[in-house]
Amino acid sequence: MRVSLPGGHSWQNGAVTAPSFLYGTAWKEDRTPALVELALRTGFRGIDTANQRRHYFEAGVGQGLAAAYRAGIVTRAELFLQTKYTYQPGQDHRLPYDPDADLSVQVAQSMASSLEHLDTDHVDSYVLHGPASGQGWSDHDAEVWGAMGRERDAGRTRLLGVSNVSLRHLQQMAAGGAETPAFVQNRCFAVRGWDRDVRAFCAQYKIVYQGFSLLTANQQVLHHPLVSGIAARHRVTPAQVVFRFALAMGMLPLTGTSDPEHMRQDLAARALALSADETRAIESIVG
Ligand SMILES: NC(=O)c1ccc[n+]([C@@H]2O[C@H](COP(=O)([O-])OP(=O)(O)OC[C@H]3O[C@@H](n4cnc5c(N)ncnc54)[C@H](OP(=O)(O)O)[C@@H]3O)[C@@H](O)[C@H]2O)c1
Repeated sequence: MRVSLPGGHSWQNGAVTAPSFLYGTAWKEDRTPALVELALRTGFRGIDTANQRRHYFEAGVGQGLAAAYRAGIVTRAELFLQTKYTYQPGQDHRLPYDPDADLSVQVAQSMASSLEHLDTDHVDSYVLHGPASGQGWSDHDAEVWGAMGRERDAGRTRLLGVSNVSLRHLQQMAAGGAETPAFVQNRCFAVRGWDRDVRAFCAQYKIVYQGFSLLTANQQVLHHPLVSGIAARHRVTPAQVVFRFALAMGMLPLTGTSDPEHMRQDLAARALALSADETRAIESIVG
């Protein structure tokens, strides 16, 4: 059972506590180790990555973690580490598995490679990066999900998640009798009611919704006079208002900022006291 702790500042699932903000490591290439270390030094305790060299440098995340451990900033036990299995079409030539192997073998190989990159014996969350088809939950997905469940049962991840899913994917997954995920990680568009349908499913099944691209997918909200007004009133930035709004909606937000000041601001957004009226007003700007 999952419960939201007072203040909404972390999530509890059995023995696993997920922090209230995740630091995303996509697109950082050679800067990955230094930015991961800086994020941890700034106060992030949740790291999102993927064993997908095309967009992430997972071994670099491991280097950043190692530097932070050496510097005494944090211990492994204080961290929430999340990585992903990515199907071959989402990868480039730098595959973390044998493409000719069965999907379930690919999952095991990808996980083994992730654990090596991150120098740990388990991650806290293991996410299917995206279903095989946009049309619905397929037999391929069922096979991969089963293999991910076996990784969890073997202790190599505490929790499981899915990413880039529609309501249809989730409904078909549940209807087929599959275990529902602990996390859904989606790009969160305000014009779609901030992914209203998927969030409603998550609420019903006690799934924690992780939102990414909260800023980049919602430029019209970020520049809306209502949000500028709220930001000015609270002496914060519009980006902080959007992140605080996401928390108020029950989301676990991701930020992938490379800017030290933005790292501080993003974490500080948690302390912003948005009123219920302000939250409602932001929710209804679009969508
Ligand atoms: N599951 C998936 O398929 C998937 C897809 C995309 C992303 N993700 C995950 O989500 C993470 C975040 O990605 P994202 O798409 O949300 O984009 P992002 O990498 O967080 O980029 C957000 C943009 O907003 C800016 N920004 C951040 N904080 C700000 C602030 N306080 N004020 C002003 N600007 C700010 C950043 O610029 P500065 O660097 O200058 O601050 C950056 O240009 C990724 O690293 C990855 O871990 C997952």
